Amino acid sequence: MCGIVGYIGNSQAAPILLDGLSKLEYRGYDSAGIAVYDGKEIKMVKAMGRLKVLEELTHGGATLSGTVGIGHTRWATHGQPSDINSHPHFNTSGTIAVVHNGIIENYLALKDKLLSKGYVFKSETDTEVVAHLIDYYYRGNPLEAITKVMHRVEGSYALGILFSEHPDQIFAVRKDSPLIVGKSEDGCFIASDVPAVLKYTRDVYFINNQEVVRLRADHMHFYSVDEEEIQKESVRIDWDADAAEKGGYEHFMLKEMYEQPKTIRDTFSPRVKDGEIVIEELGMTDEDIRSITKMHIVACGSAYHAGVVGKYVMEGMARIPVEVDLASEFRYRNPILDKGSMVVVISQSGETADTLAALRQAQKEGCKVLGIVNVVGSSIAREADNVMYTWAGPEIAVATTKAYSAQLIALYLLSMKFAQVRGKINQDQYSEMLRDLEKLPEQIELLLANKGRIQRFANRYVGAKDIFFIGRGIDYAISLEASLKLKEISYIHSEAYAAGELKHGTISLIEEGTLVAAVLTQEDLYKKTTSNMVEVKSRGAFLLAVTNEGHTDIEETADYVIYIPQTNPYFVTSLAVIPLQLFAYYVSVGKGCDVDKPRNLAKSVTVE
Ligand code: AGP
Repeated sequence: MCGIVGYIGNSQAAPILLDGLSKLEYRGYDSAGIAVYDGKEIKMVKAMGRLKVLEELTHGGATLSGTVGIGHTRWATHGQPSDINSHPHFNTSGTIAVVHNGIIENYLALKDKLLSKGYVFKSETDTEVVAHLIDYYYRGNPLEAITKVMHRVEGSYALGILFSEHPDQIFAVRKDSPLIVGKSEDGCFIASDVPAVLKYTRDVYFINNQEVVRLRADHMHFYSVDEEEIQKESVRIDWDADAAEKGGYEHFMLKEMYEQPKTIRDTFSPRVKDGEIVIEELGMTDEDIRSITKMHIVACGSAYHAGVVGKYVMEGMARIPVEVDLASEFRYRNPILDKGSMVVVISQSGETADTLAALRQAQKEGCKVLGIVNVVGSSIAREADNVMYTWAGPEIAVATTKAYSAQLIALYLLSMKFAQVRGKINQDQYSEMLRDLEKLPEQIELLLANKGRIQRFANRYVGAKDIFFIGRGIDYAISLEASLKLKEISYIHSEAYAAGELKHGTISLIEEGTLVAAVLTQEDLYKKTTSNMVEVKSRGAFLLAVTNEGHTDIEETADYVIYIPQTNPYFVTSLAVIPLQLFAYYVSVGKGCDVDKPRNLAKSVTVE
């Protein structure tokens, strides 16, 4: 997720672009750049690091004169954070500048074609391909060139484009990445999100997929991908600046929960080509995959909980023995690693000290390490032998939601790939799983739409002393994550238990009215868990059940039921976790806790 801005009007553009980017830093902040037309040519300054670096380099924008320009703040997806990979990107002659938010999924194929036609690339980014492709189609008519590019490019994009031969206009294009435009007395604006323009105007136009905007200093025109002019209505934004940064949501955590459908699409769709899972970054041949004798998954916190799900999925699908370790334990327990061992470390931040230490230890013992990481260019991403990015975009809330969901997708893809290569699933099963994966985003949207009911239920438990989560198999892994979410943002004591373990001690803690949340998504374990529910109910527990649609019989035992849509039993974590995230969120809100920045916690634990 990155932030793009653009301005054309009567004022100096650079300070306005920098101001707009400062309001979009939550969308990405590993590098930034601006390009301004100075009356003769497009001048550009871009640099790695926070926006502050760019502000200092340009003396707050004073070193770039001109009244038309575009800008970008980056969250790297393709190509490490670096000066050369930061945006804007140009065509070879420097007459076309582009800023981009999104992922061009077919950029490698397009890059090969452009290289064969003599184009020279400076960066590793997918965005630079767009700049050269516009150049390739440009014959003096920007709109014609842009719409031709739109027909060739696959993936998601919000583009800001500046042509030095047409300095009286800037262009913006949208497909799947957010884009708004606005107009004030002083000029016209493009931006990835509302906060960037609120200072200048509250009347904005939300651009739809496959629409193109041509902005001049005092007016704008909208076009379809077929170059037909279209009419659009502006929308009045009443949010204050802080609410706008959260997209109108009360907290970043809620906003990020609602980003999960997109995060899941962004993580799997670039890796599924013509019905086949392609994980180019894996760096393993089919022979390598077949030679794995054991897998170790190592992580902390929610990433560890994703790893526990990964164990059940990888073992169930690919029949590879999997050991999951807390990184802080792995590094000191002298693990037995041999040459057939594959180590997978999972980390949103890519900076967790224990996980980084575990990675180094595994490598020291001769193991190759795959990192499943969200932050491009982070320490773990740089040091792992291979990296599978989760492309969840920056996650601001300390309590992870969308990154955790993306980690699950990465683990599903990995398990399916390995199971297929090792001949453990047939083509029909593989294709059906892909279809189930593709349905997840829509099913999550349905569950998120249920938030009002969950909020009302959560409000009953803001005063709770203890809340338990129980489940068997993958349902136990889901319980672990649900319990952590609740603990870390509501400060209520909670435990997750393998449901079969209750009678070995924990059940003594159950008192009249204690909330026990039972997760029952695994059909083969359903009856077993139901009997555990009866055990705690007979001791006074209030029972919440999270189970598959159709199991209405559960209402004889549970006091409150949340149903989730049917999906592949391996992928069900992605659905069951949604109402449990919402439950934790609303209990925290009901208690008046600082949801996004809970006490005692940091987003990345870079110390032991
Ligand atoms: C998750 O909500 C917590 N904030 C925490 O457990 C986190 O998952 C853990 O610290 C691991 O962080 P990482 O994924 O950045 O390595």
